[in-house]
Amino acid sequence: MDIQWFPGHMAKARRMIEKEMRLVDVVIELRDARIPESSRNPLLNEIIGKKKPRLIVLNKADLADANRTQYWINQYKSDTRLAIAVNATSGRKKLISAVVDALHTLTAEKRERFQSKGATNVPIRVMVVGIPNVGKSTFINMLLGRGATTTGNKPGVTKGKQWVRLTDDIELLDTPGILWHKFDDQEAGNRLAMTGAISDEVFVFEEVVFWFLKFAQEKYPALLASRYELDEDEVGTMDTYALMQTIGRKRGAIVRGNKVDDLKTARIIMKDYRDSKIGRMSLE
Ligand code: G4P
Repeated sequence: MDIQWFPGHMAKARRMIEKEMRLVDVVIELRDARIPESSRNPLLNEIIGKKKPRLIVLNKADLADANRTQYWINQYKSDTRLAIAVNATSGRKKLISAVVDALHTLTAEKRERFQSKGATNVPIRVMVVGIPNVGKSTFINMLLGRGATTTGNKPGVTKGKQWVRLTDDIELLDTPGILWHKFDDQEAGNRLAMTGAISDEVFVFEEVVFWFLKFAQEKYPALLASRYELDEDEVGTMDTYALMQTIGRKRGAIVRGNKVDDLKTARIIMKDYRDSKIGRMSLE
């Protein structure tokens, strides 16, 4: 898999986000809870600086394995970072409360400093960044209690941005900074493809789903067995291509000559995964 972003767009995105950063006290970095490492842009450290407080929001947690999500939350916690898991599509009150609590924790010192200088009215400024399709617009719209708007997926910061009060002491930039995907290995590419983070035109479905099945056989055989009505012990040990063919046959992905259609099978399995029909499954 070879997915290239245009270097000009990446440089522009970086410049735009760097410019906004001067006004920002805390960065909210959205990642996909199912693939918290593959859905980050490792250059973000450089772009925003390691010291700027950062809230890592593991979004789409409703689709991820809760144990893995908790593992990552613990991993990411440091002096300047906190991580929380959310579902940006439902429960506005819960979402606001989780985000605001975390932002208050991350900015406690700064707010104290403001207050000791008598500057009680200075809001903490927050900006959301993340790769395409990670849920940035959904997250911002849910926080601000407004209907969906499209922001487009070109790296950078969308035009027409403005600061909106979230609470008395927090202001949110209403449009996100869009980062590009950066991954160095095939497995990370497979993970991004399975979760729908990269466009379907740029990868080979059969290869990605073959990788996925192999992974799921090892980590989540019970979920596979249950979804496709197979024996759990068999699922865990059988040849991966044979498993793919068995699923294809069961789901009617047959072509002339009673042969299994690999592409159709791969599409069915990928859709099942993306729609969470197989169950909550994290890929790292
Ligand atoms: P972006 O701005 O980062 O590009 O992402 P956007 O908000 O457009 O969200 C991308 C898709 O992810 C949307 O699905 C949205 O509903 C879904 N999504 C966002 N947050 C969550 C979450 O916490 N849980 C779940 N389950 N889904 C979430 P969509 O409109 O159906 O788009 P698509 O899936 O057809 O691309």
